[in-house]
Amino acid sequence: MSTQQRPKPSAALDALLHVGGRPTWTNPQLTSLNRLEPHATLVPFPSVELAATLEPARSRWFRSLDGQWELRVEPRPEEAAAALGAKRGWSSVAVPGLWTMQGFGAPQYTNVQMPFPNPPPEVPLDNPTGIYRRRFTVPRGWRHRRVVLGFGGAEGALHVLLNGEPVGISKDARTPAEFDITALVRHGGENELVAVLVKWSDASFVEDQDQWWHAGLPREVYLRADGGLTDFFVHAGMDGLLRVEAPRGELVLFDARGKTVAHGRVGEHHVRNARLWSAEDPALYTLVVTHEGDSVACRVGFRTVEMRDARLLVNGKAIRIHGVNRHDHDDVRGRAVTREGMETDARVMKQHNINAVRSSHYPNDPYWLDLCDRYGLYAIDEANIESHAWYDDVCRDPRYAAAFVERARNMVERDKNHPSVILWSLGNESGYGPNHDAAAGWIRSRDPSRPLHYEGAIRRDWSGGRPATDIVCPMYPEVENIEAWARANDDPRPMILCEYSHAMGNSNGGLADYYAAFDRYDQLQGGFIWEWVDHGIRQTDAQGRDYWAYGGDFGDEPNDVNFCADGLVWPDRTPHPALHELKYLAQPTGVEQLGRSRFRISTKRDFRGLDDLRGTWELSTGERGKLPALRGQRTDVRIPVPAAADWITFRFALRAATEWAPAGHEVGWRQLRLRNAPAATRARGRAATWEGFDDLILEPPRLQLWRAATDNDGLRLMPDRLAGPLPRWLELGLDRLEARSKGGETRWSGRGKWDDAIHRQAFRRLADGGLLVENEVVLGSELRDLPRIGVVLTLRPGLERLEWDGPGPVESYADRQASAVDGRWRSTVTGEYVPYIMPQEHGHHVAARRIALTDDDGNGVEVLGRPAIGFGASHFTADDLWRARHTNDLEPRAETILSLDHAQRGLGTASCGPDTAERYRLLEPAYRFAYVLRRL
Ligand code: GAL
Ligand code: MG
Repeated sequence: MSTQQRPKPSAALDALLHVGGRPTWTNPQLTSLNRLEPHATLVPFPSVELAATLEPARSRWFRSLDGQWELRVEPRPEEAAAALGAKRGWSSVAVPGLWTMQGFGAPQYTNVQMPFPNPPPEVPLDNPTGIYRRRFTVPRGWRHRRVVLGFGGAEGALHVLLNGEPVGISKDARTPAEFDITALVRHGGENELVAVLVKWSDASFVEDQDQWWHAGLPREVYLRADGGLTDFFVHAGMDGLLRVEAPRGELVLFDARGKTVAHGRVGEHHVRNARLWSAEDPALYTLVVTHEGDSVACRVGFRTVEMRDARLLVNGKAIRIHGVNRHDHDDVRGRAVTREGMETDARVMKQHNINAVRSSHYPNDPYWLDLCDRYGLYAIDEANIESHAWYDDVCRDPRYAAAFVERARNMVERDKNHPSVILWSLGNESGYGPNHDAAAGWIRSRDPSRPLHYEGAIRRDWSGGRPATDIVCPMYPEVENIEAWARANDDPRPMILCEYSHAMGNSNGGLADYYAAFDRYDQLQGGFIWEWVDHGIRQTDAQGRDYWAYGGDFGDEPNDVNFCADGLVWPDRTPHPALHELKYLAQPTGVEQLGRSRFRISTKRDFRGLDDLRGTWELSTGERGKLPALRGQRTDVRIPVPAAADWITFRFALRAATEWAPAGHEVGWRQLRLRNAPAATRARGRAATWEGFDDLILEPPRLQLWRAATDNDGLRLMPDRLAGPLPRWLELGLDRLEARSKGGETRWSGRGKWDDAIHRQAFRRLADGGLLVENEVVLGSELRDLPRIGVVLTLRPGLERLEWDGPGPVESYADRQASAVDGRWRSTVTGEYVPYIMPQEHGHHVAARRIALTDDDGNGVEVLGRPAIGFGASHFTADDLWRARHTNDLEPRAETILSLDHAQRGLGTASCGPDTAERYRLLEPAYRFAYVLRRL
């Protein structure tokens, strides 16, 4: 150790926390101090060959500082300086990592509201301040290079000290904060690095995204020894022109097989027959730029993005966006995501025909865009700006102008070389003001090759905001409204929904109707479902059962409860049933019937034909076969169809393995109805009573109007924000109906004064021994738009095996059944459980003709719809689900609860967006339905 005199580190930290004599964390004009200019993600390598691997670990000029660091968290920033010298009280934590997920404090979930009431830029005095510390040495051979210390991200206002000296400050939590430490670093011995993060700051007001608030170091921390190349800007268009903007250097471009396709000085090069990049065929090249023994590299994709004739074009063609919004989220690590986790995201997205991602609402971990390049996902890269709680204020506050421009710039410079990025977004839900136009102007001038996206600019008027957005990108519009817009507008911009079909709980009702609108109008180029993943945090209860926690479960106040659980996949990336529907709608294949036995298979993709796919067919009568080779844009096939066939199903799969799926992976399916099934014969039977089932069905069928409200029916835990029909249902008392029976009639009444619901049931014994149950439901005039019309039966324990004839296999609802396929399906009652994070109605199947529930020996009951009936089989009653708040509150019953639904209200997306369309609601004053029960 050197014995040289050092300034007291605590004095240095104090000075750094009070630049210019005022607290740095409430000074929005101080966006950073000594932070290096943003640049493309690059690492110098000592050779072209090593650079071409693009693996930083293989460069002697790069060192990751990930690993165990020391951490202490002080209650206030004022206490940090004194704590710096403390001998005790340090813990060892992992970096990357968030202290909110590592036993210090807790995460807090809010949507719009800030976690504290102070106006910008003020924050509470109680303001957790983490001090991270670690030692490191630098390799020999770094002496004559610029030594850079980088933080991939930093949640909290970051203040850095090295060897007791101030280094710098950075506040944009989600782009790299890099500092030149050449003058401070000790080459011979140990260095002590201190990173102080003040959790709440002026920056919190522009990071008010709808997600968990965390603090810590969520991304890689590293050292880099720079030579003469620190940045370049690659332009590679569909014409094969490669242009590399860099002050100096020699370039070489390799194709995927390692063959050199261009070389020479940086500048312009033409690549003959360049294979173009698109989400459907993500062809990548590798570019290496070398100067004086230093090589830096990146992947290159040749592709052109442009706006023309009110369309967004990639490589000259209008593309269809099958998109989702993605946050960085891990159910154990919070926003500190792993490479494996991101790879799973990309793979599961591609496996479900998703071709686009909006990195809501900040530049995601940089590895994410590497994956988008490689797997083929169009990206909207979004600047880390959201001032939702102060929607119209911060965007006009001149003190925040620099933050807006710099955040946009930090993103563009970091990500400019990624072919997957086709649009830059100015951020989310921050009103529209001069700070946006400043950021937009900066981006337009720096990178004219990509159009802009910003929803705030068109929120009040779809024809407005042109300086800030080239896309009309509303959130959660009604289908009718976007169709009306598409029919009559003179906007030179296309519409792409930046958010729609809110996937909270059992959701995405009506998705097929949006797709029908996209198909009908070319100016509607698709959209991004909100959102990809449920932000549940994994917890274990006292009995050792895992469940996913949401806002409020950590004592976090204020909070917005389960509004963060609104993804298409659970936190472990298991798909919700709704993802199956999206996969179907976004599939690459279409089928048309040309004649009785002639069918046309065609591609629904923007660039590729059918050549990479193979197909099979199957008839309801049992015949099946393989399709002949599929070629080009369409292939016509002939399949002998017997007169008795009700339907034909086509299935399509990958011929060969891809980056994201093995050969044989199913990419699409289509079922065509060939004739309407003949109506069941109407046996009348003789009048009978409810009997003969007592050993199987524990009591006679009861009317069921209630369902365990979905998140879209109304937000159960946010009574003041109840959106859908739930408030009315609760007012009526549908959750607690009372019955009075007299003769063959039961009258049901609830809370308040309304005309009873009358349920009449008539039983008839059929010749074959079956019991025909005829139902009539007459509703008082207040009882419109109900959850369901049906009956519920409690079956004896042990009837676990389920088989049905009708649409399947996953749950289907009136407004989410496009993907369902008619056939015979098997499941178990336990297997019908769908573990939505907030327990709710699930497992319904529309229009079954036959349902059988049996024990292992095949004994049980069979239900025949007359002609069809919806159903759900469960170990939970509607009330069990309605009372539960988390999955671990549920205790499965031994019995099987069989709901027979003449109809159920569609799902809609009213938790954030349009309610269920009228045609999927139950609006009649009376209903009649029938079914047959038989012993098996
Ligand atoms: C949008 C917002 C998203 C999310 C969503 C609701 O308004 O942009 O961040 O809050 O609503 O889940
Ligand atoms: Mg918001």
